[in-house]
Amino acid sequence: MSDMRTMASKRKTTSRTTDRIAILGGGNIGRAMASGFASVGGFKPDRIYLTRRQAKELGSFARRGFRVTADNAEAVTNSSTIILAVRPGQLLGLLDGIRESLDPKRHILMSTVTGVSISDIARHLDSTAPIVRVMPNTSVAIGESMTCLAANGRSGRALGAAGTLFDRVGHTLVISEEQMTPATALCACGIAFFLRAIRAASQGGIEIGFHADEALTMAAQTARGAASLLLDGTGHPESEIDKVTTPRGCTIAGLNRMEHEGFSSAMIKGLVTSTEMAASLFKSDK
Ligand SMILES: NC(=O)c1ccc[n+]([C@@H]2O[C@H](COP(=O)([O-])OP(=O)(O)OC[C@H]3O[C@@H](n4cnc5c(N)ncnc54)[C@H](OP(=O)(O)O)[C@@H]3O)[C@@H](O)[C@H]2O)c1
Repeated sequence: MSDMRTMASKRKTTSRTTDRIAILGGGNIGRAMASGFASVGGFKPDRIYLTRRQAKELGSFARRGFRVTADNAEAVTNSSTIILAVRPGQLLGLLDGIRESLDPKRHILMSTVTGVSISDIARHLDSTAPIVRVMPNTSVAIGESMTCLAANGRSGRALGAAGTLFDRVGHTLVISEEQMTPATALCACGIAFFLRAIRAASQGGIEIGFHADEALTMAAQTARGAASLLLDGTGHPESEIDKVTTPRGCTIAGLNRMEHEGFSSAMIKGLVTSTEMAASLFKSDK
């Protein structure tokens, strides 16, 4: 009986250990994922490793109970899900440091790194561990991420695991790996584009008579309402716009003025520029 208890307790320890997530790279997206997994994803902070070379910079996470370290190998050894969250030029050095700790039967790798393919990672690691690409955005911190996932023949069980994990912190969509670069521009960079649009609306709001804090709340809530009309309803942007634009009215006058100034064109050109840049980041960042 006592032997059985020992075995059961050993199994429990092992399963708790392998359930852990190691986020390697505690920068902007690494910290956002850690926060989201713990606040809305249902993970206790002590099930999440967060690493960076300057680990002392992660003091606030350590105080909240996350496992903070500069030792990537330790994080990998004690986790089953490994999320790569460093900049493209920092990736190869990081992979060199974890190669020996990887167990293809136990570990799953999820890479957020822009412009680096699954094959690039597998070749550099010389490992058969399953690998999937994940592209969340910073609203993962509050469970509102649009996360794109991409797999290839090397991904195996990693795609399902990534879907299950990132569904807890937002919406997921499986796309082809070739679409990962444009998805980076639309969804990851896109957070900044929409925030700038809200900021611009709030600046306009000040000019037409509101205090800065009122204008920002009014602009942000209006943006949320517009997005919800599309996401919660069945709306299309143009049919929703038609409901707001009274003939000879003030909305169509303002909207057409914005278009004359290049509103849609500026957004499209920005997306195309970000996509072109994202495609070359790995080469230029090395
Ligand atoms: N930011 C976003 O919204 C977003 C969204 C989706 C995907 N991504 C992608 O995610 C990656 C990270 O982006 P980011 O914006 O979070 O960059 P970042 O803020 O510069 O974070 C990178 C972090 O990695 C750490 N780091 C570097 N080398 C390391 C190593 N060997 N071991 C452990 N940690 C290491 C750095 O800290 P130390 O210098 O202290 O080590 C830094 O905190 C990029 O490839 C980016 O394209 C970003």
